[in-house]
Amino acid sequence: MSLLKLYQNFDLEIDRAKGIKIFAKNGKEYLDTFTGIGVLSFGHSHPDLIKVFTEKLERYSHLSNFFIDEDAEYVAEKLIEFTGTTGKVFYTNSGTEASEGVLKTIRKISTPKRNQIIFFDKGFHGRTTGSLSVTGFPKIKNCFEPLLQHTCQLPFNDSENLEKHLNKYHDQVIAVFVEAIQGSGGIVPLDKGFAKKLEELHQKYKFVLICDEIQAGLGRTGKLFAYQHFGLKPNLVTVAKSLGGGLPLGAILFLENYADVLQQGEHGSTFAPNPVALAGAKYDINHIPKMLPDITQKGEYFLHKIKRLNSDRIQEARGYGLMLAIELIEADETLRDRAFDNQLLLNVINNKIIRLLPALNITQAEMDLIVQKIGEIL
Ligand SMILES: Cc1ncc(COP(=O)(O)O)c(C=O)c1O
Repeated sequence: MSLLKLYQNFDLEIDRAKGIKIFAKNGKEYLDTFTGIGVLSFGHSHPDLIKVFTEKLERYSHLSNFFIDEDAEYVAEKLIEFTGTTGKVFYTNSGTEASEGVLKTIRKISTPKRNQIIFFDKGFHGRTTGSLSVTGFPKIKNCFEPLLQHTCQLPFNDSENLEKHLNKYHDQVIAVFVEAIQGSGGIVPLDKGFAKKLEELHQKYKFVLICDEIQAGLGRTGKLFAYQHFGLKPNLVTVAKSLGGGLPLGAILFLENYADVLQQGEHGSTFAPNPVALAGAKYDINHIPKMLPDITQKGEYFLHKIKRLNSDRIQEARGYGLMLAIELIEADETLRDRAFDNQLLLNVINNKIIRLLPALNITQAEMDLIVQKIGEIL
């Protein structure tokens, strides 16, 4: 076997996938509850997306950054419009590349005195060495130390600690990275009080606030950006995952006066933005805004159904929109395998938290079926 095994793969040979179903070569079909880890907002193989991808692909597949694709400006303009302020967009191929671009921007405006970047326990911003430096999972970063200097990990949702730190070190703190709803950390939203304190301190001490919307952004939580649930006013926003309609595409949104920090030649990418992925992005951003009320409603229905399972094994069901978690009282090492045997594909964090990131166009009947299967497994 020549493939480096860094993932815990499902034992599944896939033939094709459609909507929320994955069809195996052995003839069995499986329900997909996490859509390529939050990538496929419209489910697998959506016919409209296949059409826009194919139309672009038949014309050209790659241009390089010596040319501007016809959709690049339109998508950028819409992304900025979604924030309700002004700004400019830089495209990447992935989430971690967006985090890296942000780190370069921060580095450029740092001084020897003001250079500290705050991040939070269980915040996830990527796997490259820069973004790992601001990721709050010691287990995945320790063996790569030393990483970037001048970073500082603080507890998530601890207002007192944050205030104490910033009151003391505000003249050293240049930036704060945050996920409004932690994804890999187990679908943990900001406490409203903590968010209020964070924004208050942001206004007071004028550090750069970076909202990582790579997993929670673009409609998944029922708002265009998850930070909009919490009254944050970020200076930089990162998106990726679902942006390209299923193809790799990410972006950094440089808002207001941060739009001009990076100058020509200071950053770049051979592949980004891929024109075919941009066609997917155009479809995404044209359709997601009108789906928001529906996403909220579906999320409420899904949560309600889960709670009605009344399982004594569930500690809590939580989330916003269609970014949901079912946290168990005790870890269950066989949960994922039992679900798999029941033809249900689950993403389970630490054998304890089922992370649900279903297609945003999931139907009520599909939600019912998923909840029924989860009930059977528990
Ligand atoms: C919040 C968040 N930020 C950054 C990343 C990294 O994105 P990518 O895997 O595309 O590099 C992820 C990936 O899961 C994420 O969930």
